[in-house]
Amino acid sequence: MTPQSGSSLDVTIVGGGMITNDLLLPSLYQLQRTGVVRKLDICALDSPPLKALAESGDFKEAFPGQDFTPHPSLGEPAERKFPELYKEVVAALAPGNMVVVAMPDHLHNEVVRHALHCDQNVLCVKPLVLKHEQAVEIEKLAADKGRLVGIEYHKRFDRRSLVARRSYGLGQFGAFVMGEAKLIEPYYYRHSNFQNWFTCNNTDPFTYIGCHYVDLVYFITGLKPVEVSVQGVKGKFPNGNEAYLWSHGRVTWENGALLSVVNGLGYPDAAAGSNDQGLIMYCEGQGQTGLIFHDDHNRGVAYSYLEGIGPGGSKYNYVSPDFFRFVPWEGPGYKPIGYGYESVAGITESVQRMAEETAGLAPEAALERRRQFLREVDARGLIATPANSSINELVVEAARKSITQGAAPVRIVYGEHSHVE
Ligand SMILES: NC(=O)c1ccc[n+]([C@@H]2O[C@H](COP(=O)([O-])OP(=O)(O)OC[C@H]3O[C@@H](n4cnc5c(N)ncnc54)[C@H](O)[C@@H]3O)[C@@H](O)[C@H]2O)c1
Repeated sequence: MTPQSGSSLDVTIVGGGMITNDLLLPSLYQLQRTGVVRKLDICALDSPPLKALAESGDFKEAFPGQDFTPHPSLGEPAERKFPELYKEVVAALAPGNMVVVAMPDHLHNEVVRHALHCDQNVLCVKPLVLKHEQAVEIEKLAADKGRLVGIEYHKRFDRRSLVARRSYGLGQFGAFVMGEAKLIEPYYYRHSNFQNWFTCNNTDPFTYIGCHYVDLVYFITGLKPVEVSVQGVKGKFPNGNEAYLWSHGRVTWENGALLSVVNGLGYPDAAAGSNDQGLIMYCEGQGQTGLIFHDDHNRGVAYSYLEGIGPGGSKYNYVSPDFFRFVPWEGPGYKPIGYGYESVAGITESVQRMAEETAGLAPEAALERRRQFLREVDARGLIATPANSSINELVVEAARKSITQGAAPVRIVYGEHSHVE
């Protein structure tokens, strides 16, 4: 059904993996409860991940009575693959609903474009695409169709990021000059499906997770990155595949500021998890300096469980109540809380608001109003869109070039045709 005034959106998720399980599906289930989402479909490459989602005890407990329509159906043999099925599932949606893109990075481009061609709005997990040129094409296509493409950089919705952005904008810190960001994922990732795709030719820790903090410094300060240099440290996964297991990046910003970005797949499984992360930014003021310090690892809550139910099988853990947790609420089951949920809700509710504001208008007038709405979202800069966040694609392109050339500094040139060189 086409969204009408006061009504909800039909949502199709493409991809049924880790991020769908950990964040997207529970957030969309909650939005179904609150009336923002109506019908939920999930399309994956094959039936096993869909079966796991449908049979999840956590979801049954948190969202009793709620479910989704799987594509392919759960009865399909596990080994049968459906790489093209998403095309017809997305095409079956009435115009103006929403497609959630949650499959491997290199497939985002074709799925986002297909969704836009089918006149759908899009929520895409980060990174939108791997080439800046592709982001520019998607930006044009979205503007042409008057459809929102929201990129789910959930760290932007962390309250501390929003507070820092406001204070920085009010000049309360001075100008960013020197900083350090760190995100080290757990060692146990090395034993996961990562060993099949996280190889030197595809990606590296900076590209995979460093981008979160580069986006955050841009989000807080509004400064653009102009040069990137990344040195990788190689190692082998248990299956023998070679990968950059660690990386050290340096990002230079348009005002000359420098940010070190340290990433890796190696936070000890035995340590208080789930990973290690944080951001420090020094700023220059008049006759003094300012400081932003975010400990995103130890947020002040530590639990020691009786069983090893923490990440990596640990008992003692720093628990973040801020990203995503199920908690008791007034309704049935549990509700999700945290900036992960708020990020998915922020994008989905914007799509719904756009549909409501244009309901009942003649097609041309509705298109014009939607385009106006998109320009406002771009300018506000809270939701990452192709128009306001494609610095991320430029940084990733520069990083990949640099790491494969032994940390050579790679410049980003801005202009009508922004590019790296
Ligand atoms: N912090 C974050 O923002 C964050 C965290 C984790 C993952 N991600 C992003 O989410 C995306 C998915 O990551 P993941 O960890 O869930 O991966 P995953 O490997 O666990 O899942 C990928 C899913 O894509 C599906 N898929 C593959 N090809 C398909 C096709 N042709 N049609 C339909 N479905 C297909 C697979 O069935 C699988 O369910 C990646 O882009 C990743 O970078 C973002």
